[in-house]
Amino acid sequence: MKKYFSIQFFARVIPLCVVLLPFNTVSAQNKTDDAKMDVFVSGLMKKMTLDEKIGQLNLVTIGAPTTGSVVNKGVAEKINKGAIGGVFGIWGAKNTKEVQEAAVKNSRLHIPLIFGLDVIHGHRTIFPIPLGMSATWDMDLIKQSAHIAAKEATAEGLSWVFSPMVDIARDPRWGRISEGSGEDPWYGSQVAKAMVQGYQGASMKNADAVMACVKHFALYGGAEAGREYNTVDMSRIKMYQDYLPPYKAAVDAGAGSFMSSFNTVDGVPATGNQWLLTELLRNQWGFKGFVVSDYTAVNEMQAHGLGDLQTVSALALKAGLDMDMVGEGFLTTLKKSLKEGKITQAKIDQACRRVLEAKYKLGLFDDPYKSMDVAREETDVLSVANRSAAREITKHSFVLLKNDVQTLPLKKNALSIALVGPLADNHRDMLGTWVVAGDWEKSVSVLEGIKNVVGNGVTINYAKGSNITEDTTFIKRLNFGPGMISIDPKPSDELLKEAVEAAKKSDVIVAVVGESQSMSGESSSRSDISIPEPQENMLKELSKLGKPLVIVLFNGRPLTLTWENGHATAILDVWAPGTEAGNAIADVLFGDYNPAGKITATFPRSVGQIPIYYNHKNTGRPYSSGPTKFKSNYLDISNDPLYPFGYGLSYTTFSYSGVKLSKTKLKGNEILTATVTVTNTGKYAGEEVVQQYISDPVASISRSVKELKNYKKINLQPGEAKEVTFVITPEQLKFYNSQLKYDWEPGEFVVQIGTNSSDTHSASVWWSK
Ligand code: BGC
Repeated sequence: MKKYFSIQFFARVIPLCVVLLPFNTVSAQNKTDDAKMDVFVSGLMKKMTLDEKIGQLNLVTIGAPTTGSVVNKGVAEKINKGAIGGVFGIWGAKNTKEVQEAAVKNSRLHIPLIFGLDVIHGHRTIFPIPLGMSATWDMDLIKQSAHIAAKEATAEGLSWVFSPMVDIARDPRWGRISEGSGEDPWYGSQVAKAMVQGYQGASMKNADAVMACVKHFALYGGAEAGREYNTVDMSRIKMYQDYLPPYKAAVDAGAGSFMSSFNTVDGVPATGNQWLLTELLRNQWGFKGFVVSDYTAVNEMQAHGLGDLQTVSALALKAGLDMDMVGEGFLTTLKKSLKEGKITQAKIDQACRRVLEAKYKLGLFDDPYKSMDVAREETDVLSVANRSAAREITKHSFVLLKNDVQTLPLKKNALSIALVGPLADNHRDMLGTWVVAGDWEKSVSVLEGIKNVVGNGVTINYAKGSNITEDTTFIKRLNFGPGMISIDPKPSDELLKEAVEAAKKSDVIVAVVGESQSMSGESSSRSDISIPEPQENMLKELSKLGKPLVIVLFNGRPLTLTWENGHATAILDVWAPGTEAGNAIADVLFGDYNPAGKITATFPRSVGQIPIYYNHKNTGRPYSSGPTKFKSNYLDISNDPLYPFGYGLSYTTFSYSGVKLSKTKLKGNEILTATVTVTNTGKYAGEEVVQQYISDPVASISRSVKELKNYKKINLQPGEAKEVTFVITPEQLKFYNSQLKYDWEPGEFVVQIGTNSSDTHSASVWWSK
């Protein structure tokens, strides 16, 4: 007996208890909270009529944004009747309070509404578009941006944000690639987690926390041909391995709600897909929140060919959808379906319970007006602190794609700059897609930013140089709001002449060009993803002058930049940078900050290479170093991208040593460490994102050529060297096999570490079970 209580026993067990104790206390606390919530919600539901229960499942829009043809009518009467559970499209403490008061005072049971909005990359203070945010490779900054957004959103009466969008996208023709974190499932999962944590904080009851809504479940980014709302069709292995992980990571991070996507999954629209919404999301992953449809996605199941509105509404409810956005199929048909025995009372109750639970978790039953605070609106919205955080975060999102002969950074004095391009003295296009409450007039243009940073030290010769585009059909489609793009009354050759004149009298040309705000985002697929023609013509004319040509590139997606890469001296990708655009751009152009962003979506050479992504399979006839017959390649172009996943330069340079492994033979759960030494070989202090990949050359299924498994962002002074060590466990070796079992198989593994997905050093290990 005595030996069971040896010193070793206490030495092992007591620390374990210490570790487990707080955890047990937390989980006991959660259980008590859940039990309290259960009692409250059950009590409330006992008082509710069928109509009131169905009312909770109805989400309506008042005002912007409308992304479909339907908008809700008779909202005020419906609120009074308890026929609405949530509202989106309005914000502001006063506005939301007025509507909340109607629900709380006029409806029979005084149930508060939940107020949602598309807060995607900031609420009032706008951060870079999510694809740009993901280029920071900095989860603390990403989390901070979500927290600031939550703080601003709650100050304006909101408690629910339709974000993060975690759809993996490998097709830059798809405009919504701008709203996600690119092509990699592991990296996308890190961002998903950071965003959920940033929004929801430690408790959704906190005054500055909102409920996240993870979208679009699922696989929306796999739209065929990159065409918006198009069919998605993929194997289960591909789903599990490459597309589902970020959604799962968001569930694990405690996301409170999910949004179903517009597309089909395995032939069934996601919104009515029982496997997706119940079997996978709830049964396999343990999701406990509620699921809302996308905008009129229930109704759209009719066009998908699944039946009339009553049929598709019943299908969606049975599949596990809890809330119907805008279309009111639930509101108008569920009662009838219940009477006809097409759905059960239990299903309605379940959905109603989930919506009420969300309101409970947000603390809305304790205080329905909890975040409708005019005073906080004054202090917390678009504050100096938020703007300065945005400026800092924005700089980290920029990616230096090219920098010949150290053209950048520019000197702050003794220099004249030709600042040209239709995006140079422009506010409207600084914010990018999905900025419902963002005000472009509050943004800093590039011209203003440069003046702020260099004062009178630099002579700026400004000229617009070209229109954004002159294609009038394209402009018509882009201008879904008033006055978004217009053609300059000056003839285009005059605009061009002015730019050339400005360039002639300057030492360096900075051309601010690319996509306008509405060229990417929802419903913005493009078949040609180059810089629009008039801007490209301007660049071509300017390059003939033989002066340093710096492109500051605005883009909501990877663009085809083959000409630009060949002819510009430097290219700084700034995405759509947000409110602090110009200041952040000037900070980087003039070297106050050394850029360190890395792209998270591959840049193709040509549209013909799409879909293109680094973690592809090898095929039976792999391409090696140039097109040949009877290999998996194109005859007219290399397979290689223009810029690979993970790519991005710095004003300094880094060198990598070979990979040192702690062992080359391992067994079972042993741990491997892989180390490289990174040296700053240039003249500037700088940050580097050191990336660690693994490949699994022999397995029971064909594996990707490599997969990102970890990264570390380090800071090095000129001449400084640092050892960077990655800990590798069998967890990193796991994949989904043909039976969809997530496990690893013994054999050889190649650890690759480097500065981007193409440029790595590698070392092999043999890992047995
Ligand atoms: C989009 C969603 C968005 C919703 C509400 C839809 O068209 O797909 O991402 O949250 O509209 O605005």
